[in-house]
Amino acid sequence: MLADIVSGTDRPLVIEPMRRKHLTHVEAIEQTSYVRGWSHRLFLSELDQVREGTRWYGVSRRGRRVIGYGGLLFTSDEAHVTNIAVALDHRRRGVGAALMHRLAHVAIDHGCEAWTLEVRATSTGAQHLYRTFGFVPAGVRQHYYENAVDAIVMWCHGIQTLEYADLLAAIDVSE
Ligand SMILES: CC(C)(COP(=O)(O)OP(=O)(O)OC[C@H]1O[C@@H](n2cnc3c(N)ncnc32)[C@H](O)[C@@H]1OP(=O)(O)O)[C@@H](O)C(=O)NCCC(=O)NCCS
Repeated sequence: MLADIVSGTDRPLVIEPMRRKHLTHVEAIEQTSYVRGWSHRLFLSELDQVREGTRWYGVSRRGRRVIGYGGLLFTSDEAHVTNIAVALDHRRRGVGAALMHRLAHVAIDHGCEAWTLEVRATSTGAQHLYRTFGFVPAGVRQHYYENAVDAIVMWCHGIQTLEYADLLAAIDVSE
């Protein structure tokens, strides 16, 4: 369809490490995804920490267009999802799931035993996505976002196990 060609949805989904050259697209998605998105300076700082081995960031793209991104922070044997977002016009097409799939494998390859994240109590769609990847709610940080919206803390343990490999293998990703 012409609409698919224009939007790039006819192209294969590629996930690759985030580079500075991606930031224009990444920051545009960030600003439309969050009330108070990360600044350019914060993205640069995070990419600096990739070089130091304490972070990993990836972008998903179709053709040249970056349509999503996500990242991890590593602490001892845990990984923390710092951010994940998909361009508005590419949502509900499996891009977020493909990013989570890649993040899971990055965390496993890094030797992590568990991964965790915070999600807005109001973001039920994102919570559903995370449950698919084995995350369960473990607590609430009250008024965490904009001093108003609660964060639900979610954890997923045992990511080095065969059971978790089976769970990942069963998730259909279009990557
Ligand atoms: C959360 C987000 C990354 C999901 O990306 P996405 O590419 O739309 O997600 P997917 O298409 O891979 O969704 C996979 C599954 O997650 C669930 N899901 C995702 N978004 C959903 C929504 N808005 N409502 C209900 N379920 C949703 C569904 O089960 C979906 O499968 P389905 O489409 O077959 O029903 C995206 O909505 C986003 O960028 N939101 C703004 C930023 C944000 O809130 N990030 C999370 C911070 S914690």
